[in-house]
Amino acid sequence: MNTRQIVATITGQPASDGAGVKLNRVISFQRELDPFLMLDEFNSEQADDYIAGFPSHPHRGFETVTYMLDGRMLHEDHLGHQGLLVSGAVQWMTAGHGIIHSEMPQQEEGRMRGFQLWINLPAAEKMKPAAYRDISPDEIPVLSGEGWQVKVIAGQFAQAGQVTTGAVSGISTEPLYLDVALQAGSQLSLPIPSGHTALLYVFEGRMAVSGQTLAKGELARLGKGDAVELGCEQVAGRALLLAAKPLGEPVAHYGPFVMNTPEEIKQAIDDYKSGHLTG
Ligand code: CO
Repeated sequence: MNTRQIVATITGQPASDGAGVKLNRVISFQRELDPFLMLDEFNSEQADDYIAGFPSHPHRGFETVTYMLDGRMLHEDHLGHQGLLVSGAVQWMTAGHGIIHSEMPQQEEGRMRGFQLWINLPAAEKMKPAAYRDISPDEIPVLSGEGWQVKVIAGQFAQAGQVTTGAVSGISTEPLYLDVALQAGSQLSLPIPSGHTALLYVFEGRMAVSGQTLAKGELARLGKGDAVELGCEQVAGRALLLAAKPLGEPVAHYGPFVMNTPEEIKQAIDDYKSGHLTG
C-alpha cells in the first residue's frame, strides 16, 4: 500500500448564491481538483441566511450532489420530480443536456446544514438526458468499527476484507463519497483508487492524514497513492472523503453551465433563453 499524503490545503471563502443563501465555498473550479468543480457548505441556525433558498434556475453539463445533515429542503424540477431532502438524505442530479429546478427550505427556523458538490461530466456525456435520484438516509450503508463510523454515499468502501458499495454507483468518474467520523484517539486506514483525485474536507473537530492535522474548515488535496491513513488525537472529527477519476478535458464555465468550450457555453445560454435547454 502506498499511502497518500497531504499535498495542498484549501480554506473556503464566504459566498452567497441562489436568492441570497449564505455559504462557505470550499472549492471553486481549481484545475487540479478535476473532476470536482465546486463544494459549497451551508450551515446556519439563522433563517435569514437560508430562507430565500434557490428558486428556479438551470444547469447543463455536470452533476450536483446535495447531502443534507440538518434541515429540510424541497427539490422540484421541469421533469416533474419532487423530492424532500431530510437530514441524512442525498440528492444526485445529473444536469446533462439541461435541467431547470428549484431547491427551497421547508423550515422557517432551526439549523440548515449540508453540502452541495458539483462533479463534472465527460464531454461525451454532457448532453445526455437529465436524471435525478433521491436517496433516503436508510439507503446509505453505514459501517462502523472501533472508534469510527463511515457512511458510504457513493463508491466502494473496503474494510477487513469486506467491500461495501455505496448508495450511488455506475457513474463514469467513479466517485467515492464518504462521510467519515472518528472518535478521539482512533484511526482508520482505507483504500482510494490510485489515479483518482482525492480530497478530505474536515467539517467537525479535527482530523489528521498520516499524522498531519487538519482543522475544521480545511480541505486537503491528497497526493498519489492507493490508501489514506486518517486519525484523530485529542479531539474527535468528521470529514467528507471525496475521490473521483480526473477527466483531463478543457473546462469552460459560466454560472450554472459547465462545458468544454466557450462556444458550448454560448449555446447553453442561447438554448436557455429560447426555451431549448431541456431539449
Ligand atoms: Co441547482
